[in-house]
Amino acid sequence: MTTVVGGIGTSHVPAVGAAIDNGKQEEPYWRPYFDKIRPAREWMAAEQPDVCIIVYNDHASAFSLRLIPTFALGVAAEFQPADEGYGRRQVPVVQGHPELAWHLAESLIGDEFDITIVNEMDVDHGLTVPLSVMYGEPEAWPCQVIPICVNVIQYPPPSGKRCLSLGRAIRRALDSYEGSDAEGLRVAVFGTGGMSHQLQGERAGLVNPAFDTAFMDDLIAEPDAGSLRPHTDYIREAGSEGIELVMWLVMRGVLDDQVDEVFRMNHVPTSNTSNGLLILQNAR
Ligand code: DHB
Ligand code: FE
Repeated sequence: MTTVVGGIGTSHVPAVGAAIDNGKQEEPYWRPYFDKIRPAREWMAAEQPDVCIIVYNDHASAFSLRLIPTFALGVAAEFQPADEGYGRRQVPVVQGHPELAWHLAESLIGDEFDITIVNEMDVDHGLTVPLSVMYGEPEAWPCQVIPICVNVIQYPPPSGKRCLSLGRAIRRALDSYEGSDAEGLRVAVFGTGGMSHQLQGERAGLVNPAFDTAFMDDLIAEPDAGSLRPHTDYIREAGSEGIELVMWLVMRGVLDDQVDEVFRMNHVPTSNTSNGLLILQNAR
């Protein structure tokens, strides 16, 4: 059986990836952020997950408005970093885990989550920046990755409740995995995006760390109640792109009902976003 080593909620700010790629981590603007996340990187290095399931949103890099899957699962053997307009990010190619991914597909669809199966897709900053946040700049990513994309770009996105339920269905799939490497397989799950931010319109630049704190508190202690928060609350309180936070509920659903908070940080500013990083583990 697999072991769920923990859940990671993290913002996926592209400027953080650019700061890493361009050697700016020691600059005065960036240093406080990178200092704060050091314990999270140490936790990751100690836990050594074999597979990371990364729940993220594509920002019109792999999908366009021509095709908008609500939930999509990457089953490929590898995923190239997307070209988001400045060439592909110079980070390692992301290695998939087709055997576990196909098991997830079978289990989720059998469990009435009719997820879109993706054989080929490039992965954008929504997925590669969280890897950089947690691992820095390795020669190769030290884990295999299963991408799960959630539509939060085009209205209507899935509800928080549906996202929490998807996480629970992913957990059932992990618990029933009997693949060739199932024995002792260590799995981490990421929910990415958020926290509060708005990139456009009159309220561009909005951040609301008080909302972010309340969101994290509910996610830990009362995920079912928290999952009922309507989209309009996210948009009013956390800005138009704050809706990305629903993806953290998928992560939470993979974990047990009772969790321990291992690490939390919230840092403003990074680019336009209230940058959060939360690590949870099943309660001991
Ligand atoms: C920023 C944050 C995001 O989540 C994103 O997808 C793009 C940009 C930002 O803060 O700049
Ligand atoms: Fe985003």
